[in-house]
Parts: sequence; structure tokens; C-alpha cells
Amino acid sequence: MDVREVAVVGLGTMGAGIAEVFARAGLAVVAIEVDPGALERGLAALDRSLARAVTRGKLTEPERADILGRVRPAAGFAAAAGADLAVEVVPERMEIKRQVFAELDRVCRPDAVLVTNTSSLSVTAIAAGTADPARVAGVHFFNPAPVMRLVEVVTTVRTAPEIGQALTDLARRLGKTPVRVPDRAGFIVNALLLPYLNHAARLLETGYASREDIDAAATAGLGLPLGPLALLDLIGLDTSLSILEVLHAEFGGPRFKAAPVLRRLVEAGLTGRKTGRGFYDYQQRESAAPPGPASIPDAEPAAGPATVMLIGGGAGPGTPLGAMIGAAGWPLAAVPGGPGRHGGHRGGAPDDNDPDSNLPHDDGPGGLIIVHAKEPGTGVLGAALATGRAADAVGLHLASDQLAELIITPMSAPGAVRAAAGLAARLGVTVVRCPDRPGFLAGALFYPHLNDAVRMVQDGYASPADIDTAMTLGCGYPRGPLQLLDAAGPGRALAVLTQMHERYGDPAFAPAPLLAENAAARLAFR
Ligand code: CAA
Repeated sequence: MDVREVAVVGLGTMGAGIAEVFARAGLAVVAIEVDPGALERGLAALDRSLARAVTRGKLTEPERADILGRVRPAAGFAAAAGADLAVEVVPERMEIKRQVFAELDRVCRPDAVLVTNTSSLSVTAIAAGTADPARVAGVHFFNPAPVMRLVEVVTTVRTAPEIGQALTDLARRLGKTPVRVPDRAGFIVNALLLPYLNHAARLLETGYASREDIDAAATAGLGLPLGPLALLDLIGLDTSLSILEVLHAEFGGPRFKAAPVLRRLVEAGLTGRKTGRGFYDYQQRESAAPPGPASIPDAEPAAGPATVMLIGGGAGPGTPLGAMIGAAGWPLAAVPGGPGRHGGHRGGAPDDNDPDSNLPHDDGPGGLIIVHAKEPGTGVLGAALATGRAADAVGLHLASDQLAELIITPMSAPGAVRAAAGLAARLGVTVVRCPDRPGFLAGALFYPHLNDAVRMVQDGYASPADIDTAMTLGCGYPRGPLQLLDAAGPGRALAVLTQMHERYGDPAFAPAPLLAENAAARLAFR
């Protein structure tokens, strides 16, 4: 396949980026958009993107002019007559895609290859509506197309074998890394990404954690470039909802059932960055960047607790958490009574006969009890109750060297939470708040995501290596999900998922059998 001219049909967010990718690789591009307003906006986006590259010293002014000169805008399909390859990038609706392919069938040369950039619809069904399904395939780019290095090359049972290979070679010529996948809804990336994003939306709408904290758990906890809610805004909430609907129709199950908040935002026209507002408000120039260490708004760093008692999880001044608390300026109080006995500044050991001793109260910062949670399980409430001073107790879990989770039990008094937040804000890491539920925040968000990746391997759809390549190059993950799972330990993931499954009774969290097997055999996925 000798590709010199490419017709890109549809000049929305993705179409404009894809046109840029081809033009930058030296190919002639016919940019077809039947809506004049959309054509203008698409060309403006292309212009902006190239101008930014010049400003950043990535392109020279003459190179920018050359690239723009290779892009020929057109308002009708007839312009695709000379193309060797036509790339459809129109909205994710089967009837629209089929109309576009009918037009391409009519105008393109019989030897031209027709591809769709669909992110979830059946390429087979799109191809079946054309005169020659053997020349139809999927080539799926990622947003922003000029930046993300992955391309999923999707072939159907009808695609001519040489076309799959030719598209793989073409992707390399564009500077991308191709991953070949069979035609299944969501391919690799969206089938893994969308349920994770959807779960994040559900955590937000159920009040499990705040928007900023959910995003910070992803960026500070796992080093992802964007948190899930900011990423939903980037992809577009309408696009995300359509993909979820397709995934739900294909696979069923609660992981793919769209969170009501997603649907409501789409109905309200708040579809993300492209409309100026989604989960974040971009018109107010509100940054979608994850918050820094002092993210907790009502933290009181100046008014720290008089004493801090660290209990549980091998607690003590010698532990990393103990050292961090000491470095933050609050000396640790000894645990009176030795191991298993916890006393406090208000009079020593808990009075088991005093029914009020555990009741919430709010008398400002005083002796704070921090339950050191070593594992992302539950158990903070139990340990807090055992002190007899549960109102003074919060949990703290160091989820990574960048993220601390502040675990608030139903008994934690507001004053204790504020004092702990003030202290945590000085630990030099990003701090997020969450309830005492399995996985806390980062674990509750990610272990189901990693479990989905294991299930994809178990299904025989993609190899661990291809999944990791897809998520690192398609979504900027520092490490792929199977690598992350190996680093965390399949056993730990299994324990959290088992707890989530038991606690919520939701099949979404049932550990994949392959995960249980690898955990039992102590086998890594990579
Ligand atoms: N168009 C072109 N270039 C862009 C761009 C855009 N819209 N946005 C950013 N860039 C370029 C910048 O010019 C910059 O280039 P240089 O390094 O060459 O100077 C580079 O990207 C980094 O940009 P910034 O420094 O401004 O911003 P950043 O470091 O925060 O990175 C990001 C921005 C690349 C988008 C990063 O946040 C990221 O990787 N996010 C993950 C995005 C992701 O997951 N995409 C996949 C979504 S799923 C999908 O698309 C599939 C689907 O079907 C829904």
C-alpha cells in the first residue's frame, strides 16, 4: 500500500489531530468536513497546535507552513476521489458512520483503503455496510492524536490480511507504535479505561471522595498524567458515555453501566473541555491540574495537635510514617501500657465502662490518634474503637511516596480530622481524604482497573505486554496495568478486591480467577 494522499473525514477534536499527524509525516491530507462551522473550528485547532509547536521550538516557521500547505480543506466527499486511504473520524453513531462509508464507497478509488477511527463500535458492522469489506479496517488514535504514541490497528474477519500489515507499517511511518487487535468493543484501551473513569465518576457522585482527591489519587498515587475526572473532560463526556453504552451492550455488567452523573452532565451540555465545562470549569480558568500537597481546604497546619499517638501497623517513631510525623514538627507520644494498650492525653487508658468515651466530640486539636494503616484494607474504625477514644482517631495510609490517604471513620470528630489534615499537609506528600472502606481511595479506584486488565488477559484478547504497551503509549501511564499489578503484588490486589466484593456485594469487584491463580502461585504477569 503506497499511501501518499489521505482523506480525513470529520474535523472535530480527533479529526484535526489526526490530519496533523498525517501532514506532519509528509502526506497530503484532504480534510473533509461538511459542517462549515466545524471545518473552521477544526482548521483553527490545527493552526493552534502547530503554532504551539513553533513556540516550543519543536517546529520551525517554514516547517509549519509546509505542514499547513499539505492540508487541503474540503466541504464535500468528492474531494476524497484521489485518496489512497480514507480515515473516518465522525461521531460515534453507527448510522452516521455507515452514511460516511457509503459516500466513501461511491467516491474513492476501488483500491483505496477505508478505515474508521471508531473507539468502540463494531468495525465489522461498519465494514459489512460497504461494497467491499475486505478493504475496511480500524485505525484508532488517542487524544491528543499528535502526542499519544499508540495506534490500535483493528482487523475484522473480512479484512484482507495484507491491509492489516500495511496499516501497521503506516502507523510506524507516522511515528506511532501499532498494536494489532481483533474487533471487540473498546479494543484494549477503551475497554480498560472507560470502566475505570466511570468508577471514578461514581465515587464522586456517591460522595466517597472529592473531585480533586480522586484525581490526585491517580496522579500522585500512580504517577498518571491526568486524574480520571480531568481525563473524562479531555476525552469528552459525550464520547465517554457513548463508548460506555457500546461496551455495556457488548459485555453487560455493572463496570460498564454509565454513572448517572456522567449522563446528567452530558444532558446539561457540559461535555468537558470542548464546551468549557465538564467535571471542571475551564471558562473560569480553573485548572484541571491535580492539587499539590496542601490540597485539603480546611486543613489547619498552624494549629497542630498537642500530641500525636501513632498506633497500629508496626507504628512507632522508627517507622517511615513516625519519622515523617516527627519531621513535621509533632513529637510522637508514647503508647501507654505497652503493646495492645492505648491511652491518651486526657487520662490514660480507655475506660471500657464509660459508654461515652467513644462518642464524637469537637473540642479542637488536642491529642490526636493516628491509626497507621499499612495495607489498603479496612480496619481503621476497629482500631480506633479499641482505643476508647475513637473521636480523636483518624487513619493514615501511605499509598505511595507521593500520596497519603487520610481515613476518616464515622466516629472521627471534625476537630480531629482538621488537626490530622493540618499535620498531613506538612508531611510533604499529597494528601487525600477517604472513608474506611476497602482499598481506601487509590486502591478502590485502581485494583478493579487492574483486575479488568487481568480479565482481558484471561479472555485471551490481548497479551500482558500488549496491554501494558497500549496503556503506557495510549494514556501516558508510567507503567502498564500488569506491571503495576506485579509491583503491588497480585496477593495484595486479590485481598483488596475480595474485601470490596464482600463489602459491596457487587460482581464488578469479583477478582478474576487468573488473578487468584497468579496470587496463589506467586506468579508475576510480566
Ligand atoms: N494537541 C497537540 N499537542 C498537544 C496537545 C494537543 N491538544 N496537548 C498537549 N500537546 C503537546 C504539547 O505541545 C507538548 O508538546 P512538547 O512536549 O513537544 O512540547 C506535550 O503535548 C505536553 O504538553 P503539556 O506540557 O502542555 O501538558 P502535559 O505535560 O500536561 O501533557 C497530555 C498533556 C499529553 C495531554 C498529558 O496530560 C497526557 O498524556 N494525558 C493522558 C491523555 C490520555 O490518556 N489520552 C487518551 C485518552 S483515551 C482516547 O483518546 C481514546 C478514545 O477513543 C476516547
